Amino acid sequence: MNTVETIQKRHSVRTYTGEPLSNEHITQINQFISQLQAPFGIKARIVLIRKYANETPIKLGTYGWIQGACDFMALIYEEAPFAQEAAAFMFEQAVLFCTNLGLGTCWLAGFSRSSFKRQITLGPNEKLRIVSPVGYASDRKSFIEKYVVRADKNRSSRKPFETLFFDKKFDTSLTEVNAGHFSTPLQMVRLAPSANNKQEWRVLLQEETLHFYKKPYPLFDSIDMGIALCHFELTCKELGIEGKFEVLKDFPNNDKFKYVVSWTQA
Ligand SMILES: Cc1cc2nc3c(=O)[nH]c(=O)nc-3n(C[C@H](O)[C@H](O)[C@H](O)COP(=O)(O)O)c2cc1C
Repeated sequence: MNTVETIQKRHSVRTYTGEPLSNEHITQINQFISQLQAPFGIKARIVLIRKYANETPIKLGTYGWIQGACDFMALIYEEAPFAQEAAAFMFEQAVLFCTNLGLGTCWLAGFSRSSFKRQITLGPNEKLRIVSPVGYASDRKSFIEKYVVRADKNRSSRKPFETLFFDKKFDTSLTEVNAGHFSTPLQMVRLAPSANNKQEWRVLLQEETLHFYKKPYPLFDSIDMGIALCHFELTCKELGIEGKFEVLKDFPNNDKFKYVVSWTQA
């Protein structure tokens, strides 16, 4: 899989053909998700839920966001510090894998918990917060996709590079040129999907260390951050830039944005 190309190709697909996934796709996805591990020592798993697994189709509610989808991936993780970031990191790997297979996906927080929970058994400390349809994108777009989501440019556009990333200090914008070999990994952070397309991640580049910050907002700030970290690390790996994440004790403070983690080149 070419990570950069796949990240560039991925976008939220909300209208599907109504055709269930082929057996080949089911096998490929199950193989991939069964070997995935969440980073940072967090326990998380992904389950494929199929509307037509048996003769009687099951009901999976998505409050109208998604039309024609027959198969869904559900993200389940054990509550712990950094669990949401790590679980989201892992789920985005599955999303990109499906994108690479030519399948549509859409991170979804708005879904009927009860209808999905009926299909899975949750452990005592496990949470289900996110699902994604996975399937064949339809050429025809549903009303919601056409008039509510796609027509709203704010839902698909991204903030300029210079407003998301900073050079040595928070009062200096980072240009793509000055980002040097981190330019592409940061461009991929910029393309990360986020709830309501908020894009409230910020990165401060200091020498060979990148400090990641988020604007705290209810429910999904940690999940959005996990997706961004995934895009960053997968892209670095693809480009042969080696390094690792570490939560530092000493980091530059910011009034509006909360420090999350740093990545330092090896
Ligand atoms: C945590 C999270 C929750 C989301 N929940 C929903 C949702 O409930 N309904 C929906 O239509 N899209 C949802 N999205 C998709 C975002 O709206 C979408 O990723 C964003 O607008 C950027 O568009 P793109 O994915 O096409 O790049 C969610 C995305 C994330 C990351």
